[in-house]
Amino acid sequence: MAFPKDFVWGTATSSYQIEGGGLDYGRGECIWHRFSHTPGKVYNGDTGDIACDHIHRYPQDVAMMAELGIDSYRFSVSWPRVIPAGTGTINQQGLDFYKRLIESLQEANITPYLTLYHWDLPQALQDKGGWENPDSVQWFMEYADLISRELGSDVKDWITHNEPFVVSMVSNLFGVHAPGQQDPVAAYTVAHHVLLSHGAAVPIIRQNVPDAEVGITLDQTYSMPYRPDNHEDQIAARRFAAFHNDWFLEPVFRGTYPADALKELDQRGALSKIDPTEISKAQVPIDFLGINYYTRYVIKASETDPSGFEQVRVDGTEHTALDWEVYPDGLLHTLLYLHNAYYPTKIYITENGCSYDDPLPINGVVDDPKRVDYYRQHIDAIEKAIELGVPVAGYFAWSLMDNFEWAEGYNRRFGLYHVDFETQERTPKKSALYYQERISQERAKA
Ligand code: FCB
Repeated sequence: MAFPKDFVWGTATSSYQIEGGGLDYGRGECIWHRFSHTPGKVYNGDTGDIACDHIHRYPQDVAMMAELGIDSYRFSVSWPRVIPAGTGTINQQGLDFYKRLIESLQEANITPYLTLYHWDLPQALQDKGGWENPDSVQWFMEYADLISRELGSDVKDWITHNEPFVVSMVSNLFGVHAPGQQDPVAAYTVAHHVLLSHGAAVPIIRQNVPDAEVGITLDQTYSMPYRPDNHEDQIAARRFAAFHNDWFLEPVFRGTYPADALKELDQRGALSKIDPTEISKAQVPIDFLGINYYTRYVIKASETDPSGFEQVRVDGTEHTALDWEVYPDGLLHTLLYLHNAYYPTKIYITENGCSYDDPLPINGVVDDPKRVDYYRQHIDAIEKAIELGVPVAGYFAWSLMDNFEWAEGYNRRFGLYHVDFETQERTPKKSALYYQERISQERAKA
């Protein structure tokens, strides 16, 4: 039986995407508040002001998780909800919210997995340069110290960062996410400090929570050369992987940057504000690697794109509403690659899921057959990876419910539960029923 008895079945969310409550209860402004209130940045002018109103409805949401039968829930803490200006004064109401949430999870027998940073940086810190400022490492240490001291008696599983690639590149090079810069020097400076802050926070969490398990979540983009036998495409696919994955994996596991990408970025001047040798400090022992996997990237050599590569859409394959290709084998390949190149002792799939234009609920259920297929195929891929010896210890479906999908606003739905954003009513989708049944089947077999 592939899935071990103690395999963790969960769902994931993040603070800004679900909590709402605007700036009430002492919550400070975050960069996503500022960004989404800036015209033209988010689809339809949507903001996270109300989102899923989870700040008020968390008891109902925990009940929903219990009904789903998950044993773990991955959520993130909103930094400006607990330290409104990012450093200094603490907002007790914010801390109390997370304490109540964790208590309800415990009453429902659901284990909390806490992510410290899922993108909602206090705006007050952004005003000081955000992650570009070397002091950000210290700010994050102070924040990690507070949260692990305050919540550590009831939370044992800790994730420092969610997807540093997005925090650095999507937010500061592509400009699609807050704070919306398009500046390679800024992007690589941010990546450096985020990685260093991970290395600095892990020992603090361990010290405050002696039995903690601590890790980091990296998004993995599985890439393949468009023409598999074409040398230029092969080189391009490797470069793509080096920039997306290894730029973050190597620091965490080896304390180095990948040599090929390092040389090239250095020549381009993108590393002018950092000392790359400092990255040795990002390598500290971790208990697990979290990975988020959604799709594959087919890569072709490009003479026009300055990066030297471009993404190709392969027709005739299934694509989600975000045009992400459904490619479950990529998850298997990713897991095998990580296992063979970096040897993490434990891997959690901390996110996996898909967005489709679901129909409205009928008779208390939403019919989403493509999402059911997506989950089935990806869970099967994990099963195969475990059979091949990859130490996958848990799976968190993204997401528990439809929510604020960053620059896509409420236009893209990833939930197992449908949310009517007018009434805040939650309705299970058939994928929730599938997940529920799969979990109980796998448990029965284990
Ligand atoms: C990931 C994010 C998560 C969600 C999914 C769809 O990159 O971590 O918050 O937006 O994508």
